[in-house]
Amino acid sequence: MENYCKEFKIQKNDIGNAGTVASLTKRELKRRGLTKDFVKTVTIGIYEAEINVVIHSYGGTCVVSIDDEFVNVTFKDNGPGIECIDSALTPGFSTASHYAIENGFGAGMGLPNIKSVSDEMELTSSKEGTTLHMKFNISGDSYES
Ligand SMILES: Nc1ncnc2c1ncn2[C@@H]1O[C@H](COP(=O)(O)OP(=O)(O)O)[C@@H](O)[C@H]1O
Ligand SMILES: [Mg+2]
Repeated sequence: MENYCKEFKIQKNDIGNAGTVASLTKRELKRRGLTKDFVKTVTIGIYEAEINVVIHSYGGTCVVSIDDEFVNVTFKDNGPGIECIDSALTPGFSTASHYAIENGFGAGMGLPNIKSVSDEMELTSSKEGTTLHMKFNISGDSYES
């Protein structure tokens, strides 16, 4: 199947549109004949990362690319960055704002979930911003039979 590549902009605190990258990617993965389980796995990872950019950063971008072997997703945002990546990856750790918590976010499970659903995850951060790359392997079993 042809390769897919799409870039999205994500705005700070735009909770109303949070989930757009996840749902458009879900649609594309379904269209490509990938299984419900595979689609769910990828969608969970993207959704959590998308929410993080909305609630924790000053805004950013996401690039999703899909070929026959991999789904690659890269989120890049502008500050304030993650002070300690080890803490951020600990289940339950959260610095979510009152606003985020009021909207149902801030359980501190986003990054641990991203790590567990993805086949590869790379997280780098500084005061200028955060980059999160996740990769999902597509195999024969990933397709609906
Ligand atoms: N894009 C980001 N920019 C800045 N900080 C982030 C970002 N993503 C995650 N974090 C930090 O890592 C913590 C843990 O993230 P996560 O596991 O998704 O939990 P939650 O979003 O529920 O707080 C966040 O509370 C925040 O401190
Ligand atoms: Mg989160």
